[in-house]
Amino acid sequence: MIEIHADAESLSGAAADLFVEEARKAAAGRGRFAVVLSGGETPRRTYALLARPPRRNRVPWERVHVFWGDERCVPPADPRSNERLAREVLLDHVPLPAEQIHPLRCAADPGQAAARYESLLRDFFGKEPPRFDLVFLGLGENGHTASLFPHTAVLAEQVRWAAEVYVSEQNLYRVTLTAPFLNRAAALAVFLVAGAGKAEILREVLEGPAAPRRLPAQLIRPAAGEVRWLVEREAARLVGAHG
Ligand code: 6PG
Repeated sequence: MIEIHADAESLSGAAADLFVEEARKAAAGRGRFAVVLSGGETPRRTYALLARPPRRNRVPWERVHVFWGDERCVPPADPRSNERLAREVLLDHVPLPAEQIHPLRCAADPGQAAARYESLLRDFFGKEPPRFDLVFLGLGENGHTASLFPHTAVLAEQVRWAAEVYVSEQNLYRVTLTAPFLNRAAALAVFLVAGAGKAEILREVLEGPAAPRRLPAQLIRPAAGEVRWLVEREAARLVGAHG
């Protein structure tokens, strides 16, 4: 389902409202809300809106657990860190218990970090099937999402829940949740896409032929969950009207 918004502010407000709604629902229904944050710039405003009234006061923060869909393998203080973005804009401003923030630290050893994150996730879910109530995702202009980059080995990973990936164009290692794990665990996956620069790739992902190695965002199809696209008007310019 695609929701087209007149501008980035409206998209960010809708994404923040979705977070509030899903958090309240999960907290009431299951006692906790497990959310996966995306990196990149698009979600910044969503996080900022969640950090202030009225939305800040409507989230049951004591029931919230925060994970990341991917991380750049840099120190947490590095400007490229997804953890740093989330802490600066949101997590440092809300009453979320520190032990309920689960960063993905991979600066030292990406492979080991991926394995460590998987065991953290396994411990968290215990005997329950893994479930993220809400997964925020972005869309790169090359069709990547999380750190599932085109033509990388991680796209073929069927077993591990998290895996390292070397992004040659950025000369950087990252760790990402894998597509099969995201598809197994996501109850609701929400892509946030804004800017004219995303119009072409969004059209290819949504309306082009299936080409998941070239367009990894196409891999995201939660087995028992839902995918929603919150798209700002300029980014939606080339896609047909959708219900
Ligand atoms: C990251 C993100 C990545 C991001 C896209 C879109 O770590 O960079 O997880 O998948 O969502 O690159 O980024 P923008 O929102 O900045 O366009």
